[in-house]
Amino acid sequence: MTAGVTPEIRDLRLYTAAQLRPLLEVENRLWQKRLHWEYLSSARLLLEYLDAHALPGFVAEEHGKIVGYVFCVYEANKGVIGNVFAAPSECGRQEAQRMLLEQAITLLTHSPGVDRVETQLLLHDAGEMADVLLATGFDRAERLYLQRELDAESGAEMIEKVGGCVLRPWREPDMAPASQLIVSAYRGHPDSAINDQYQTAQGAQRFLHNIVRYPGCGMFVPTASFVAQDALTGAMAGMVLSSQISEACGHITQICVAPEYRRRGLAERLLQGATRKLAMRGLSELTLTVTASNESAIRLYLREGFAERWRFDAAVWTRPVN
Ligand SMILES: CC(C)(COP(=O)(O)OP(=O)(O)OC[C@H]1O[C@@H](n2cnc3c(N)ncnc32)[C@H](O)[C@@H]1OP(=O)(O)O)[C@@H](O)C(=O)NCCC(=O)NCCS
Repeated sequence: MTAGVTPEIRDLRLYTAAQLRPLLEVENRLWQKRLHWEYLSSARLLLEYLDAHALPGFVAEEHGKIVGYVFCVYEANKGVIGNVFAAPSECGRQEAQRMLLEQAITLLTHSPGVDRVETQLLLHDAGEMADVLLATGFDRAERLYLQRELDAESGAEMIEKVGGCVLRPWREPDMAPASQLIVSAYRGHPDSAINDQYQTAQGAQRFLHNIVRYPGCGMFVPTASFVAQDALTGAMAGMVLSSQISEACGHITQICVAPEYRRRGLAERLLQGATRKLAMRGLSELTLTVTASNESAIRLYLREGFAERWRFDAAVWTRPVN
């Protein structure tokens, strides 16, 4: 921090999307550079909430200029800390970001009814905020951002049958069985500790709604999203969901297989089929996120040509029981 310069922290709800726009454009450039993600197209809802003055959070101001922001979302008994971002400024980017994160943590952990707080600091290097998170009682898990190039040969045409399952494109009525699949695939899994939506069918349904209907994780691409169904019982055995996060880049937003259908090559075929469809759409790269401890999934991704580009932190706070 430059001696004597401390940003002023203010309530985000005092500001409009237009006032935040220059800062969001700086942030967008970082998303593009680091994650190949056109963030502003995904941020439509954020802008609407800003204009409605309905988004809890904070702004860092320096000499009257907005240099950083953080926003939060309440979901029943959970608070989620969205982006924490600051542009370079006299007070120092790092310092502003830490102050904003601390403010958001204080707000949420002191909100009556909130007994859990989650965040995924996608734009921050793993460990960058570790001291703030640990000092405030968060558990931290490293996650990886993986990327691969795509060309006309990438992936493989989806074949119809693998390991006793029929593979077919995603359909809207798949939402309910897909929620059940997420719960069974992620039972006892590190990702359901990071995101508690994976723990219940209702939560998983909210997660899927966000992916399929809203642009937060990119624009859903139904033609590159597939389901594996037991050929005999019709039960949903696995799925892969894809989105487009920029003109050139696709993103795998979900891939999972129910425990009883694993090690039959389903995930590999689903991923290859999605990859081929995204490549045929003219995309030149594909990304996804995975928790560092998820070794079996990482093996699959490395086999399919993905490589690590970035490491970031996910963190969770749960209210201590008195
Ligand atoms: C990760 C996950 C999707 C893999 O699904 P899967 O269908 O079992 O994957 P595959 O069958 O393609 O490959 C898994 C293993 O089985 C092996 N395998 C594939 N076909 C096989 C067969 N016919 N016989 C024996 N082994 C086989 C693969 O070589 C691979 O081996 P490895 O673990 O040594 O790398 C699944 O474990 C899962 O849903 N996990 C929980 C959710 C999750 O972590 N999702 C990823 C989040 S980023």
